[in-house]
Amino acid sequence: MTRLDVEKTIEELTLGEKVALTAGVDFWHTAAIDRLNIPALRMSDGPNGVRGTRFFNGIPAACFPCATALGATWDTQLLHEIGQLMGEESIAKGAHIVLGPTINIQRSPLGGRGFESFAEDGVLSGTLAGNFCKGIQEKGVAATLKHFVCNDQEHERMAVNSIVTMRALREIYLLPFQLAMRICPTACVMTAYNKVNGTHVSENKQIITDILRKEWKWDGLVMSDWFGTYTTSDAIEAGLDLEMPGKTRWRGSALAHAVSSNKVPEFVLDDRVRNILNLINWVEPLGIPGGAPEKALNRPQDQALLRRAAAESVVLMKNEDNLLPLSKDKSILVIGPNAKIAAYCGGGSASLDPYYTVSPYDGVAAKTNADIQFSQGVYSHKELPLIGPLLKTADDKPGFTFRVYNEPPSSPSRTLVDELHLLRSTGFLMDYINPKINSLTYYIDMEGYFTPSESGIYDFGVTVVGTGRLLIDDELVVDNTKNQRQGSAFFGTATVEERGSKHLNANQTYKVVFEFGTAPTSDLDTRGIVVFGPGGFRFGAARQTTQEDLISAAVTQARTADQVVIFAGLTSEWETEGHDREHMDLPPGTDDMISRVLDANPNTVVVLQSGTPVTMPWIHQTKALLHAWFGGNECGNGIADILYGDVNPSAKLPVSFPVRLQDNPSYLNFRSERGRVLYGEDIYVGYKYYDKINLPPLFPFGHGLSYTTFSRANLSLTTVPEQPTLHDGEPVTATLTVKNTGSVPGAEIIQLWVLPPSVTGVTRPVRELKGFTKVFLNPDEEKQVEIVVEKKLATSWWDEQREKWVSEKGEYGVLVTGTGEEELRGQFTVERTRYWVGL
Ligand code: BGC
Repeated sequence: MTRLDVEKTIEELTLGEKVALTAGVDFWHTAAIDRLNIPALRMSDGPNGVRGTRFFNGIPAACFPCATALGATWDTQLLHEIGQLMGEESIAKGAHIVLGPTINIQRSPLGGRGFESFAEDGVLSGTLAGNFCKGIQEKGVAATLKHFVCNDQEHERMAVNSIVTMRALREIYLLPFQLAMRICPTACVMTAYNKVNGTHVSENKQIITDILRKEWKWDGLVMSDWFGTYTTSDAIEAGLDLEMPGKTRWRGSALAHAVSSNKVPEFVLDDRVRNILNLINWVEPLGIPGGAPEKALNRPQDQALLRRAAAESVVLMKNEDNLLPLSKDKSILVIGPNAKIAAYCGGGSASLDPYYTVSPYDGVAAKTNADIQFSQGVYSHKELPLIGPLLKTADDKPGFTFRVYNEPPSSPSRTLVDELHLLRSTGFLMDYINPKINSLTYYIDMEGYFTPSESGIYDFGVTVVGTGRLLIDDELVVDNTKNQRQGSAFFGTATVEERGSKHLNANQTYKVVFEFGTAPTSDLDTRGIVVFGPGGFRFGAARQTTQEDLISAAVTQARTADQVVIFAGLTSEWETEGHDREHMDLPPGTDDMISRVLDANPNTVVVLQSGTPVTMPWIHQTKALLHAWFGGNECGNGIADILYGDVNPSAKLPVSFPVRLQDNPSYLNFRSERGRVLYGEDIYVGYKYYDKINLPPLFPFGHGLSYTTFSRANLSLTTVPEQPTLHDGEPVTATLTVKNTGSVPGAEIIQLWVLPPSVTGVTRPVRELKGFTKVFLNPDEEKQVEIVVEKKLATSWWDEQREKWVSEKGEYGVLVTGTGEEELRGQFTVERTRYWVGL
């Protein structure tokens, strides 16, 4: 790549070339113009790992803990290091741009992508995101803040109009973007799918041009979310530089025509092109060649960092009688549906093929010096577990063969166009490219051999974006080709899982054939749904059993066990892009299992995994509870480090866990109704609501215990004289001493909240998080810590009449919290009321 003279290049480009630059050419690349040495750019998701250019059968990648897990660390330094590794992972995949982080807001526990965003609070989310992006961009890779803005639910995500007051838009939803940009102006921003107050964001001039570019003085590249461009002229005029993905729907000849007819002035198109060329120059030092090969890093130091992140994200929610940490010398019974699967990330575009995973069971087994037993406890899969890893090919390799044809199985003459060997019996084919495939309609036969170890009735399940038939020894067991029913998998584009069953004998080998036809062969009405290319498939199986049998077995084993730990929770099936959760409960049977095991053995430790809050009707029965999110590659090791006390827990919740879904402030206004969702709770999102109405959640925002104790003392606040103009804002510096008063080393997170005065005639939250820091202390060690907040940011609210932030004069309370109940209080004064706009 050579550096471009941007203005000269704009002069030299033909209209057709300019237009071509403003849209992707495929899922992950922009257009190259060889004549003028303009290279293509490659981009890849983010946000919890860099997948590379292939969803299907791609090169494995590092999987980072999901964003709520990283949010729970409250660790800006860690996020910076994580960002650096993300940058290196991106370079390994030949990608110039990482499509992340996601910094939308968890209005509701139900958001299908809640796991992808750091926090319910803009200060925590924006600060962590800024440090994360700094790490990415220090490596020369462009970071992308997404989804700008108010894409806080999945239901009808492209069609929904988010109706939000300007005050809530500024104070809650734009704030994380604003704060992240202050720490690290990212090279890219991705617009949200939805409308905000009547206009889709990808064509919303107020949001893209007036706020982002003019008010915040940001000069990067704005791209649409995938298939989230809906117009030609409006989107170009509003400031949307790049339509993604390609092939273009709205640019191409439509845009050329709009410019020729002067519907879009050419200088406006030039502005869009300028931002694209500037980005090419920005990433030029990377020296990534066109069509760069994709590699795997997977270095020991990366594994260590991911393990540290996984452990530092685990929240100790409860620990009565110091039940934790566990003893490595006592035997252990491991129970539960999440024990032997690694729930390493949520579903959708954040998901990827990891280098490896460590399940919680593996993590515990690697630590214990004593006997370890396992009991399933309950099945909590939504769809039957993938059968692929249990199959063998005809030549006895694990997995199955995957044979691609242009013609259907019924055709007398079929030509094989591709043959692969796969392990996972699921695939999303949107970026599977094979030049021998003639059209979007093609067929794949998958074949493997299954030898069950137990006799019984087996259930088989088939989910498709397309059509699928599953045959065992040539007998049709599942037919998902007719009367198809809409389901939620594959971004909400797939059928429900259709099932069939068959009795199988132990140790007998059966031939399993799965015949798949791509998306156009489906009879589903896909109106309103963007079908991503050729579709996808999934087939699974499990031996039939009742939940009662599994629970009873676990209860019996737990009764006499030395130590018991339950691993339960959600997986990428339950929390996924394209689909919001229907309720806040754990999967069917789980609560019953946990409660009955706790009855049988009250010293059972419960470890939950989910990206967002869940209900816990058995909470009063449990003495020890960990919340472990989706922890990435090293998920199981990170959990085991905490369980056995090799790492002292320090994480704090980045989202409130309400007792019931109904307690959540968005309860009455979450899903799209007739095309709109009212952000009726206004600025009272998460803890701001629970505080205001004095409704204690089950576990509040910021909650998290430790195996040690800390004390906090000597809070002092220092201010400097106010300046007449509010350019950078004056610092308010809080200093205090923090001491580890327990017997084990540990990290403490200190939070600084500001309590606004009640003189403004507008309601304000009881307290707002404005700063935080993390400090590591050995037993008896004491350190002085400092938290600096900016006076104008720490005191302002958005005045809709003036369309400005206002920092009102008055006395502001300061509250400093950390682990345990102890609170420190102070106050500072704002001398004069001042108004401001800008970053
Ligand atoms: C998601 C984006 C993602 C893009 C590309 C979309 O469905 O909303 O976050 O970057 O796909 O995978």
